[in-house]
Amino acid sequence: MNATPPDKQAALDSAVADALALIDQATDAQAIRAAVNAATGKKGPLAAVKAGLGKVPDLDARKALGQAVNEAIARVEQAAHGRESVVKRAAFAGSIEADREDMSELALRTSARRGRMHLVTQATERLEDVFVGLGFRIAEGPEVETDFHNFEALNMPPSHPARSMWDTLFVDQDPQGSVVLRTHTSPVQIRVMQEWPPPIYAVMPGRVFRKETPDATHMPVFHQIEGLVVDRNITFADLAGTIESFTKAFFGESFTSRLRPSYFPFTEPSAEFDIRRPDGSWIELGGCGMVHPRVLAAAGLDPEEWSGFAFGFGIDRMAKERHGVEDIREMYSNDVRFTEQFS
Ligand code: PHE
Repeated sequence: MNATPPDKQAALDSAVADALALIDQATDAQAIRAAVNAATGKKGPLAAVKAGLGKVPDLDARKALGQAVNEAIARVEQAAHGRESVVKRAAFAGSIEADREDMSELALRTSARRGRMHLVTQATERLEDVFVGLGFRIAEGPEVETDFHNFEALNMPPSHPARSMWDTLFVDQDPQGSVVLRTHTSPVQIRVMQEWPPPIYAVMPGRVFRKETPDATHMPVFHQIEGLVVDRNITFADLAGTIESFTKAFFGESFTSRLRPSYFPFTEPSAEFDIRRPDGSWIELGGCGMVHPRVLAAAGLDPEEWSGFAFGFGIDRMAKERHGVEDIREMYSNDVRFTEQFS
């Protein structure tokens, strides 16, 4: 078999060596391709050798030279591929480095930032604790209520004037006016009486809604806690005694309570209750009274057999009072710097 003539082989070797040197120096894909083209392109040294193929008269010698040219091209391509993957990896590492974020400040932070419970949540939990301590169970009801539970079963038939004591938000649901956002937690009294056989000693905290414009002492969404006792021979004295025990347990021994005559359609007699601070000033807290016989009957209990009392008051107002918050809207400003002051 005919070998490639030494001069041609030398030309190929030196063209390959030149190309490999260029490829080795290249730092991006474009430079690598340029080096490949310089060696193997139409005007390159390998093409020149290839062009002379036709002038080789001996068939075997021509084949051998053709093979040598192809091998030279293959060596250049192989070197280019190798270099390309190196350059690609370097570019990727570079972009990772460029994207790096300095997190050392976060990593060095010694104390984790902890969340705080909202003032209303804190007050609700404390109230629940006190009432559980007095022997009450906790119940909850829906925030979207039927007119029946929110008004009718509480002795306010449709168009009863007392309905205007609550500025009601109605849900757009047919028949219109049949579904409301509950205006107080009293509808939960009805649900508890419908579900639990007496004797009942329960408190029912929750969110309530009224069509109000927010100001320093009002919010359209706020919280109440309802109390309900249904048992045999429950009297007004039991109500007054419970309010007094609660006052001392929650606010402290130096606080007392008083009841003032008032009106609610679902209690008879009805009263407002106030708390007396040690300095002699009074805080108006909520409403209460003996459960109206018609309310017991609407919930399916026999008023001849059972009697009871109920009370309800605003939790937000208590939290505001306890922490000396000036404007109730501040409690809902969603500013952690506010909540962080109280824990
Ligand atoms: N539901 C009454 C209100 O929101 C408060 C109340 C509850 C009064 C229970 C009497 C008995 O104003």
